[in-house]
Amino acid sequence: MTRYLANKRILLGITGSIAAYKSPEIVRRLRELGAEVRVAMTENAKRFITPLTLQAVSGNPVHEELFDLHAEAAMGHIELARWADAVLIAPATADFMARLANGIADDLLTTLCIATQAPVAVAPAMNQAMWKHMLTQENLRTLKARNIQVFGPTEGSQACGDVGPGRLIEPVEIVELLSRLFMTGSMSGLKVLITAGPTHEAIDPVRFITNGSSGKMGFALAEAAREAGASVTLVSGPVSIPKPQHIECLSVVSALDMYEAVMRKVSDYDIFLAVAAVGDYRCKVVAEQKIHKDQSAMMLELERNPDIVGSVGDLSPRPFIVGFAAETENVLEQAEAKRKRKNMDMIIANHVGGGAAMGADENTVTVFGLKRTVSLPPTLKTRLARQLIEMIAIEYQSKQKM
Ligand code: C5P
Repeated sequence: MTRYLANKRILLGITGSIAAYKSPEIVRRLRELGAEVRVAMTENAKRFITPLTLQAVSGNPVHEELFDLHAEAAMGHIELARWADAVLIAPATADFMARLANGIADDLLTTLCIATQAPVAVAPAMNQAMWKHMLTQENLRTLKARNIQVFGPTEGSQACGDVGPGRLIEPVEIVELLSRLFMTGSMSGLKVLITAGPTHEAIDPVRFITNGSSGKMGFALAEAAREAGASVTLVSGPVSIPKPQHIECLSVVSALDMYEAVMRKVSDYDIFLAVAAVGDYRCKVVAEQKIHKDQSAMMLELERNPDIVGSVGDLSPRPFIVGFAAETENVLEQAEAKRKRKNMDMIIANHVGGGAAMGADENTVTVFGLKRTVSLPPTLKTRLARQLIEMIAIEYQSKQKM
């Protein structure tokens, strides 16, 4: 379960409870599982544990104040709220729960919880009488009703000598529950085939024609589909990013290689995601030896590569097909036309050029589904991938019911 934390950005908020001494252990476990962690502390949290400790274990500067000029210049609170894939408050005091339940954003941590679009979880820790108090219980109900996850608390002996509910659950359990936030199960039992990255079309033994695709979007979709419960195969052109774990990866070089790999495999799959930026043309003749520059100009004769997604679209039966359209102008019209031409169920359109989309970490897309069209704001590719996988799963299921 905990493998779902790899590459996730976790914002850990610490509030003023004696249980704050367990927070560094939470950070350590999160990092061991591959998560990147940033810590925000309230004033009272600093009475129990020092920011220096948290800085050392997280490997990042600790965020302490809402209106700190230096901190805001480095990473402002809105940027920090956007950065997070999940926000975890552990330990969360009765006071913090009360302020959050009432939407009071009077310090950095409450502001971050309200400014973020990521899921928020709290792990309460307090004296048993405070936990049982009607006001705390009412705040707890409000938080749950507002879709805030509550981890624990558990019962037992407390630092103040009381025995009862209000103990922070163990760091190992907190981390396990957090990882489950990333498991949606929306593609459970499905097989997904994904193409990613660019292709290299050889000119001679040392030169090739290619494009600026980094593979980031396809790889992020592969990870997100796996987290949604799918069994995933990734067919990737030459990229320099690390291969995702627990995913079958086939490395190819040219469009023809990619075409062959896809056509060999695709009949076993429920969903095909064509994310690769496939070279449209290849050299008609590839020089056996390196071409020398003894002429002032040279001609390359190119011929068309097969259209991979189009060929999958011609199959019968065929999987549910999702394509990408990277365009520099008339993005939406071009995308819709392409979807019809290539017999795709969904197409995701993005504007490229001027540094947008290709190779970048962020992407801005419009999704054309079977019945609806949705434009999404600029989003990190990893987070966008999770949103897209959820949308694709919904469209896939609704097509099955048609
Ligand atoms: O026609 P265009 O290249 O813009 O179409 C983009 C979509 O088609 C993408 O989903 C891309 O992966 C797919 N494609 C393909 N094989 C090609 C060219 C594009 O699968 N030869």
